[in-house]
Amino acid sequence: MILLASSIAIGYDDAGVGLPVVFLHGFPHNRSLWAPQLHGLAAPCRTLAFDLRGFGESSVLPPFSMDQYADDIASALIALDTGPAVIAGLSMGGYVALALWRRHPELVRALILSNTRAGADDAAGIAKRKAMIDLARKEGAGPIADQMIGGMVGKTTRDKHPDLVHTMHAMMERSPVEGIAGALQAMYERPDSTPTLATITVPTLVIVGEEDALTPPKEARALHAAIAGSRLEVIAGAGHVSNVERPAAWNHVASEFLTALISE
Ligand code: MLT
Repeated sequence: MILLASSIAIGYDDAGVGLPVVFLHGFPHNRSLWAPQLHGLAAPCRTLAFDLRGFGESSVLPPFSMDQYADDIASALIALDTGPAVIAGLSMGGYVALALWRRHPELVRALILSNTRAGADDAAGIAKRKAMIDLARKEGAGPIADQMIGGMVGKTTRDKHPDLVHTMHAMMERSPVEGIAGALQAMYERPDSTPTLATITVPTLVIVGEEDALTPPKEARALHAAIAGSRLEVIAGAGHVSNVERPAAWNHVASEFLTALISE
């Protein structure tokens, strides 16, 4: 489905009834990343997956920043009258979830931070992002997908589920070039969210794949240590897209967390 919010079109899926749970994809994905969660968790929940600006069916329009992505999602949640929602973000989606907490805490009932980190890019990281923008503009999304696929999934998935490797590559190479360039700029300009972690007062679940090479388990342990009362779950045999690589395990830990929220 498509809604108009923040003066752009935003692609989204909306399933189930109950506690609203919002899913924010990583880079350079789209909302189909959350297919295993949309219906898998929809029994006691209203699950909503959004395309961030520049991806999927959402408008490819500047400005691109973590704050803008967060404001877009806030406008969408207000338009859909969800009330406070559990915000689940994977990787770049986690950066957006932390921006949403800073800017619109009244819309955040709880957080699920999956395969993500709090810190900003260092100088080498910024240079790498700028080179990727040049590459995308010169040669398109294909070489970006080629460059990223190695880190996107874990070794177990590469060995045992080549179909998932293919699915993730196809998702990435379909992303619009200017959406990719905008997200890369938004990521290298993003602020350090480490000081935000101590301000988090909502229940928080941190999830990571034990084979995640892009946002390794030590980043998840740092999030867990800095967010009071948070819970950490490490998913064996999964890499960066742990929700796709081991969906039943991801849904199991998320479902325990959501059930506890519902019964509060
Ligand atoms: C993602 O999956 O969103 C990206 O790997 C995040 C990043 O590059 O920082």
